[in-house]
Amino acid sequence: MTLPLLRNCWYVAAWDHEILGDTLLERTILGQSLVLYRKQDGQPVAMNNKCPHRHAPLSMGRKEGDALRCMYHGLRFAPDGRCTEIPGQANIPPGTCVRTYPVAQRHRWVWIWMGDPALADPAEIPDTPAQTDPGWRMKPGYKNFAADYLLISDNLLDFSHLSYIHERTLGGSPNIAEARPEVRRMERGIRVTRKVPDTVPAPYHQRLGKFAGRVDRWFHYDYVLPGILLMDAGVKDAGKADDDLEGALLFNSTQALTPETEHSTHYFFMQAHNFALDDATITESIYQSLCTAFEEDRLMIEAQARLIRSTPAEPMLPINADAALQQFRWLVQKFWKAERQDEPAAQRLSA
Ligand code: FES
Ligand SMILES: [Fe+2]
Repeated sequence: MTLPLLRNCWYVAAWDHEILGDTLLERTILGQSLVLYRKQDGQPVAMNNKCPHRHAPLSMGRKEGDALRCMYHGLRFAPDGRCTEIPGQANIPPGTCVRTYPVAQRHRWVWIWMGDPALADPAEIPDTPAQTDPGWRMKPGYKNFAADYLLISDNLLDFSHLSYIHERTLGGSPNIAEARPEVRRMERGIRVTRKVPDTVPAPYHQRLGKFAGRVDRWFHYDYVLPGILLMDAGVKDAGKADDDLEGALLFNSTQALTPETEHSTHYFFMQAHNFALDDATITESIYQSLCTAFEEDRLMIEAQARLIRSTPAEPMLPINADAALQQFRWLVQKFWKAERQDEPAAQRLSA
């Protein structure tokens, strides 16, 4: 089965700090090798990494002001991709250029549009304010998974796995898997609310909070195309009114999946806290808990991907917990088919 890879949508290409100063960042997205850097005014630039001359990587080149020079034979390119200099040659053949892509920075993420540039509207970029809001603290995270993005989406759309994969980290009890989430379809995503009343605090909550006994937990998130999770979650003493947040721990998490290839995925993540704002050890502890947990996910999902590849035709057994992931996969297929109806344009764009 072909993996549906949407092009007409915004993907996270990088954390802002990955392209500081003179850095030329090589990153493959949707199978395309790109080079990312910043102009002198701070605006990010993304272009195909392959120099049109002899196909050397521009990411091994040099920034010169806002331009990028290939350091093999010296062709120079403006940030709009136009070739502006060929050493030893006065005439630059018309149309000599590399393809560039619409990019925009919002909060700490640099986003890229891999499809038809005429359709790119930065107003559609999902908002991730806790990344920069002074009322929150977080540490940025990144992992690379050797699995396709839909298998990781499946994981993020079904938190019943916290009870098992993350038993000793984010989970702590089978109660999470037993709680039935509310799942609602939106135009471009899925809204999931999972309340876990009267349960034990997760191991990492016990490190962070002062819970005398049992707790109520909640997860409320939107998971939107092409694979962006926007979540508010929390934990407080069991049995208190919903609006009584005395002693509660609140988290805001933003996570983004960007296909690197059909079999590998960039995973950008952060989980912000709005308590103990001046205690960097808390920020670090939450970050480390997340990294440990996402390693647990990675091991399982990569092993799952290998097994699926060995016998791809075998059907899976649907269960109730699959509701959100099935609906998201349905949405991806719907948008993918809509993109492919414009086949000539799609061919042009993948050229
Ligand atoms: S390969 Fe880039 S200038 Fe020759
Ligand atoms: Fe997980």
